[in-house]
Amino acid sequence: MSENYKEAFEKTRVAGLIAAGALDEVAKIIKPGIETNQIDKLCFEYINDHGAYSAPLLYRGFPKSCCTSTNHIVCHGIPSDKVLKDGDIVNVDVTALKNGWHGDTSRTFEIGNVSVKAKKLIQTTYEAMMQAISIVKDNINLGDIGSTIQKYVEAQGFSVVQDFCGHGIGKSFHEEPNVLHYGKKGTGEKIKTGMIFTIEPMINLGKFETKTLSDGWTAVTKDKSLSAQFEHTVGVTKNGCEIFTLSNKKQLIK
Ligand code: MF3
Ligand code: CO
Ligand code: CO
Repeated sequence: MSENYKEAFEKTRVAGLIAAGALDEVAKIIKPGIETNQIDKLCFEYINDHGAYSAPLLYRGFPKSCCTSTNHIVCHGIPSDKVLKDGDIVNVDVTALKNGWHGDTSRTFEIGNVSVKAKKLIQTTYEAMMQAISIVKDNINLGDIGSTIQKYVEAQGFSVVQDFCGHGIGKSFHEEPNVLHYGKKGTGEKIKTGMIFTIEPMINLGKFETKTLSDGWTAVTKDKSLSAQFEHTVGVTKNGCEIFTLSNKKQLIK
């Protein structure tokens, strides 16, 4: 974070809008019968067409342009020829790199008709992210974000993943600080005007534990319960924050 954070905000705004735009395009095509590879192709092309680079592609060897995490996959699912079917839920996570700056966002989509429990999980995850975003401003503690999410989620009977967190973002994809989605109010470092980071809670229907599959990427719930996630990139201001990855369109979950 620098004194000149306005420039950082402007550049992140541009990257964030491209990432959000890619998800708006995904929302139009996502339905039973498509392969997650088709989502990947769409993200790659949309981001490319907007003069940006898909940051996940080749990041630490990641083979695709976005992450597609279905059902009990918590995060970092790799797009493949897997076909989405009625009743699935799938998180699509995209990150655009434009003029040297990153915008990172994800949404969980419902495929056809999903169970009442899955709907509640998705709604709770989105609401937890938005409640956390609503308290962000200069001089709060990072732990205030985690505790806001954890309290809300656990009151609904769901659990907060602890093995992955939000992160500072800017010229690098992942920077300090780690933004935990659980914790205690008043703990952790103070956040300051000009900081840019993601809030991206992963919430499980069952227990919080995860494990990573032998591909080295795909993280799943240990108990095979459903998991949902949403992510926004935000910039801290004196009295609140700016969300850089809001959709131009209405923020539809489906
Ligand atoms: N977009 C993810 C995040 O929110 C990171 C994906 S890294 C990848 O931080 F290599 F899996 F793409
Ligand atoms: Co992120
Ligand atoms: Co992301």
